[in-house]
Amino acid sequence: MKSAQITPPQDWDRTGLPAWSFFSEEMLSLEKEVLFRSHWQAVCHVNDIPNTGDFVTLDFVGERALVIRGQDGDVRAFHNLCRHRGSRVVAEQSGTCKSAIICPFHGWAYNLDGTLRGAAQPASLPKLDPVKMGLKSLEMDVWNGFVFVRFKPGPQPKISDLLRRFAPELSQYDLADMVPDGNGFWTTEVEANWKCVRDVDNEGYHVPMAHPGLADLFGDNYYDEPFSDGASRSFSKFREGAARLWSVRAYKNILQAPLALDDDHKQAWLYIGMFPNLVFGIYPDSVIFYQEFPLANGKTIQRGATYRFKDEDRRMRLARYLSMRIDRITSKEDEQLIEWTWEAAFSSGYDGVMLSDLEYGVKTYHDALRKLFPVLKEDEPPAGTLADRNAALLSEVQAV
Ligand code: FES
Ligand SMILES: [Fe+2]
Repeated sequence: MKSAQITPPQDWDRTGLPAWSFFSEEMLSLEKEVLFRSHWQAVCHVNDIPNTGDFVTLDFVGERALVIRGQDGDVRAFHNLCRHRGSRVVAEQSGTCKSAIICPFHGWAYNLDGTLRGAAQPASLPKLDPVKMGLKSLEMDVWNGFVFVRFKPGPQPKISDLLRRFAPELSQYDLADMVPDGNGFWTTEVEANWKCVRDVDNEGYHVPMAHPGLADLFGDNYYDEPFSDGASRSFSKFREGAARLWSVRAYKNILQAPLALDDDHKQAWLYIGMFPNLVFGIYPDSVIFYQEFPLANGKTIQRGATYRFKDEDRRMRLARYLSMRIDRITSKEDEQLIEWTWEAAFSSGYDGVMLSDLEYGVKTYHDALRKLFPVLKEDEPPAGTLADRNAALLSEVQAV
């Protein structure tokens, strides 16, 4: 793949993360706390919940988020956690609460703005303050229609600031007005540490070999821009000439890009990555997002969704169907590669990795991790000391 936009320095550390970081339980708990709870996590798009009472839930690293539209039309985010005894207040991944959220355990009722409407058999309880005993709010940010939550305060600014450098380019697309494709949220489980998922996704070096569909679509136009300030960008115009695969050929023939797109973007796919675990795929016919969450060191859940233009015609629908097909095959192909990289670290022959200049995006992502976890630059700390060692290293950095 062409590396026009990648100018790594002459000498850089090509060795990747230490093998221990893929197995350490202590590392995983620190990652859950520092990355997943303390960084913005995408839940849905506001158009996934267009009507009063519509909701989407999302579970990750032991946390449960509920995003719901109130009577007043506002979208709010809460812990999906009953104040009585901690049940989920809604059990489904998405749905609609009629006029109240009724906990399935004992039937406490909450208004759609999260305040407590009433306990079941209230005479059996002291008088409860509807606000104090309401659902606990989550910090929320809405960017171009996409709803993000954060469970703990963290280092990221608002998403519009985080992704500001892409704003002019993204303004051509109708992100805020897009609507779900009707297939809901997909999830798959891969047997690998979550960082293996990200490492495979953060480089296009493997595309010509591993992704015949993408290679046919992109030719050598694809490039990755390194991670900087918490975000990355990859871009490819479509290859000139006839495609070899029927799905790619049909896609290119059918696609009539929206007039709003400039010439560079009419026949191109754009990916915007957001630290630590989210990617938007922005296509002329649709927009997707995907993310990954660790379940355990060797188990990761991937989740995503597709959005379409509101006024999509038949031709655009067909183009979207074809781009989804190319995408789906690509992620299937990646699953295998991800699992092999995870397995590799168990091998007695494993000696770490040797990154190419075309994998500089992997390195710059690791740099962002190493900034939060300087412990990754060392051998595995003795059992029970990882969090303290990391904190000590961070305070040394701050003291300088
Ligand atoms: S746990 Fe929700 S009503 Fe008891
Ligand atoms: Fe891939």
